[in-house]
Amino acid sequence: MAWKTLDEMGLASKVVLVRVDINVPVENGVVTDATRIEKIVPTIKDIMAKGGKPVLLAHFGRPKGKVVPEMSLRPLVPVLAEKLGCKVNFAEDCVGGPAKKAVAALAAGEVLLLENTRFHAGEEKNDPELSAGMAALGEVYVNDAFSAAHRAHSSTEGVAHILPSAAGRLMEAELKALEAALGNPTRPVTAVVGGAKVSTKIELLSNLVAKVDNLVIGGGMANTFLVAKGIDVGKSLAEHEMAKTARDIMEKAASAGCRIVLPEDVVVAREFKAGAENETVAANACPADAMILDAGPKAVDMIGRVFEASNTLIWNGPLGAFEIAPFDTATNAAAQTAARLTKAGSLISVAGGGDTVAALNKAGVAGDFSYISTAGGAFLEWMEGKELPGVAALMN
Ligand code: 3PG
Ligand code: MG
Repeated sequence: MAWKTLDEMGLASKVVLVRVDINVPVENGVVTDATRIEKIVPTIKDIMAKGGKPVLLAHFGRPKGKVVPEMSLRPLVPVLAEKLGCKVNFAEDCVGGPAKKAVAALAAGEVLLLENTRFHAGEEKNDPELSAGMAALGEVYVNDAFSAAHRAHSSTEGVAHILPSAAGRLMEAELKALEAALGNPTRPVTAVVGGAKVSTKIELLSNLVAKVDNLVIGGGMANTFLVAKGIDVGKSLAEHEMAKTARDIMEKAASAGCRIVLPEDVVVAREFKAGAENETVAANACPADAMILDAGPKAVDMIGRVFEASNTLIWNGPLGAFEIAPFDTATNAAAQTAARLTKAGSLISVAGGGDTVAALNKAGVAGDFSYISTAGGAFLEWMEGKELPGVAALMN
């Protein structure tokens, strides 16, 4: 790998600036999913084991360059302390006097969390002055925030050019998993792309058809592909204006030797609600007053066979309206097949993106996948084949 890891860095008694992504969901002051906090623990513990003093740089929400008290990172201090099993100090600013004082006071075996980097307008502008202010606090920079690496911000990109830099353990794990799934995969490789809209995933689909052997399309976007094939989808969610784009993607797939798998049967209903009365019909037989809400059992069988014939699977987006039962059936069944094949050792399965992880958790199989990314937008951009600035900056 072209970037340095913690193993190659001398950290003894050094102040180590660590960019983490602890942008976790919080409801009524309570963290509802601490996964991102749990995932940075090995990095911070390894830094301390090497005698380094971790100083955490992080953002929370989108305060747009202003101090927004509701977006302070301070409430995360107890959660971090619990997960890390050590004292976590807090500084009211990520640069300047308060930050310097807190760094100077930091004892070995303790961690310092700096206030939301996005309270500074310079952060999202990747302002060199802000980057220098951050860099002045430490001696080494470690980026462990793969899920924020699609942002070229001071704390994700700028600082990496000033201090000796390395990837943290989570960053390493993410990059290795993604490389195994799409960079240099064991073929045949299958991608599952679901979700509502083709328009938000054009670049992703175009990149994938050139790289994978099978592309399973699900969710609302499958309807758009059915429309592109001249099929009437009744009242289904579909982007009719994207039909030409869908046809272009199918053509590109054909010439690249990528097989596109669309559902051959579908589950339709008259209402979009949990438990709505439904029926299974052929994909080309959606009644005019109904909408497609899930892939049907034949489609699920077909997807299972594709998974069985694959060695690598990369998954983004649900196959149906997974948030309302029973329209989560196809997503659950396909996820369970992927999990079974992974456990049997015949499939490397990697998944990412907000909805995807929620769907896999709901199916109860997230733990059985080879790798689940902590990233949403960064995972998508990576699947689109884009260079992530936060990763690129570590290559120097
Ligand atoms: C995320 O949750 O997607 C990351 O923390 C990045 O946040 P952003 O989308 O606000 O840049
Ligand atoms: Mg995001």
